[in-house]
Amino acid sequence: MSTVNPHQNGLGAASLPHHIAIIMDGNGRWAKRKHLPRTAGHHAGVESVRLVVEACAKRGIEVLTLFAFGKENWQRPVQEVGYLMELFLKALESEVKKLHQNNVKLQFIGDCSALSDKLKTSMAQSNALTASNTGLVLNIAVDYSGRWDILQASKRLAKQVEAGQLKADTISSADFEQYLCLHGLPEPDLFIRTSGEQRISNFLLWQLAYTELYFTDVLWPDLTEEIIEEALIFYSNRQRRFGFTGEQMESQQSA
Ligand code: IPE
Ligand code: IPE
Ligand code: MG
Repeated sequence: MSTVNPHQNGLGAASLPHHIAIIMDGNGRWAKRKHLPRTAGHHAGVESVRLVVEACAKRGIEVLTLFAFGKENWQRPVQEVGYLMELFLKALESEVKKLHQNNVKLQFIGDCSALSDKLKTSMAQSNALTASNTGLVLNIAVDYSGRWDILQASKRLAKQVEAGQLKADTISSADFEQYLCLHGLPEPDLFIRTSGEQRISNFLLWQLAYTELYFTDVLWPDLTEEIIEEALIFYSNRQRRFGFTGEQMESQQSA
């Protein structure tokens, strides 16, 4: 297997993203191409989750956020939703020990109120088990949507105003961000979506404001180490400007 290692290409840790966010898409189409039921694609996709978690941990990436199930995905056929919920539970039960051994801190973001008690318990246990780990922070977005996140943060902020603890006129970005699901973590530097779709699909709307976006036609179950490396190389070649000019950024970097 010929691989392209960004470090071998002279790309040091400074050009690696701190936080990668991924929309793992294309499981259904992968299955369809193989004349298999959609559920077979979801099953196969678990292997790609393992691959990307290992690849990020190996490279010292600090945070990985994976979109596993969106709020809008409840509208899918009931059998598919049921299969996905079972798959989450099984994958969690079979993977958590290994994640813990590898110092991964597992967290979940999303509403999650509609999940089964069994799944909620397993998620809470995995979270507690790995809470003090200091390696890769792995956020799994389940029953998540970016609009839901912004709305729930707004409600919590509004309650503070109602209680007289905060003045509406003085609300800052920091006041707002403290209530968002990913508070305390760096914003994603690199976003990856597989399957050729070039949209955000209600993922991290607030946090993706300045994220570099990478799209690949590869379907999620076909993910390889090379695709991850290609995304990292793409990232290392971007000049992030955050509204400044390119020249300003260059002089900042050389200072
Ligand atoms: C992503 O793959 C998995 C989930 C949304 C849970 P899809 O199931 O969306 O696959 P396609 O887009 O139909 O190929
Ligand atoms: C987004 O994928 C959600 C997840 C990958 C979990 P979808 O496949 O549901 O998104 P759309 O509907 O094609 O935009
Ligand atoms: Mg899809």
